[in-house]
Amino acid sequence: MTTSVKSSDPQTSGARLEIERVRRDFPILHQTVNGRPLVYLDNAATGQKPQCVIDTIQRYYETDNANIHRGVHELSVRATDAYERARAKVQRFIGAGRSEEIVFVRSATEAVNLVAQTFGRQRIEAGHNEIVISEMEHHSNIVPWDLLCKQTGAKLLVAPINDQGELLLDDYKNLLSPRTAMVAIGHVSNALGTINPVRDIIEAAHQHDIPVLLDGAQAAPHLKIDVRELDCDFYAISSHKLFGPTGVGVLYGKYDFLNQMPPYQGGGEMIKSVHFDKITYNDVPFKFEAGTPNIAGAIGLGAAVDYVNDLGLDNIAAYEHELLGYATEALSSIPQLRLIGTAREKAAVLSFVFGDIHPHDMGTILNQEGIAVRTGHHCAQPVMDHFDIPATTRASLAFYNTKEEIDALVAGLHKVTEVFA
Ligand code: ALA
Repeated sequence: MTTSVKSSDPQTSGARLEIERVRRDFPILHQTVNGRPLVYLDNAATGQKPQCVIDTIQRYYETDNANIHRGVHELSVRATDAYERARAKVQRFIGAGRSEEIVFVRSATEAVNLVAQTFGRQRIEAGHNEIVISEMEHHSNIVPWDLLCKQTGAKLLVAPINDQGELLLDDYKNLLSPRTAMVAIGHVSNALGTINPVRDIIEAAHQHDIPVLLDGAQAAPHLKIDVRELDCDFYAISSHKLFGPTGVGVLYGKYDFLNQMPPYQGGGEMIKSVHFDKITYNDVPFKFEAGTPNIAGAIGLGAAVDYVNDLGLDNIAAYEHELLGYATEALSSIPQLRLIGTAREKAAVLSFVFGDIHPHDMGTILNQEGIAVRTGHHCAQPVMDHFDIPATTRASLAFYNTKEEIDALVAGLHKVTEVFA
């Protein structure tokens, strides 16, 4: 990638990103929708892709496409090298100690299911019979654990949140005991934006020797992650939220844990030898990568990681923090608009309800103005239950959004008011 997007002007407001140059890297942003410039505020659902990611995937298919780890021919060697380079990029990106700790999976959802059905099941079989999650989890960090509990007779315990959408840390700590098999908690809430105090969460669990999985799908695009500094045992990442392609995700796991876990799926690549009287499994991470993986996806994710690294996550976080402050103030000034999720530590997510206007109606009117937001329960229905609402409208920001786009959202919301006046 050749684009340098850091501003040379230290006075640049909020962060050292040249937003107009950054935006030029994203071809999709430069279009009109319903005759208006697209305002894309649905980044928690999926991030847009910079040209370098699109080019990397296209180049791979044009010049290098072959199956990996199998062939001695030139294309297979190139494809294998590119896939393994992507693994090393992800390793450095999240501060993992060794590349074997990076497992390519289909999605963050698959990462959670993998841990539940292997490590989680082993912990339950070893005599621990409770799983601790939180009330603000995405369904992908609830249902896999619920399935495991139903299969094994274990119990799902839920740490509550307050009305700001913050985890009640003491209540969480009170749930931990020698019975706890695992803690599984989101790093950042997709529905509320809350950034959880993951260091405290992990430290408290480790005091009882309880392993912790963090669902980092919403954190990795916004915050610098260092899995060794956090000392988390597992970390799940989604590529498409991190400006990479869909259909690929990452499970980080501590090497010793991954080594002792049984395979999740069987097939080619995850074995060393197969005979009807004996099957031996491959080493990690390949033991968990049965079948032909999403090769182009992993390589595209590697390009996305390069791109984000070039911008600098500290710059991204600072800019988004400024944008969030601006948006929070602007939305708070709209009569009848109630923000859902007002945690002190928040990523750039603004969920809200607006009088008794249904979020789907609001989303439809905003779409007419070219504004893309998500409406619904955001795959976090227990959060909706907590606030006693069926749904919210959610604007979720990325580093390529601007204050002008927030102004467009506010103008769009005034339109909504006029329609329902
Ligand atoms: N989990 C994604 C979201 O929050 C799809 O929209």
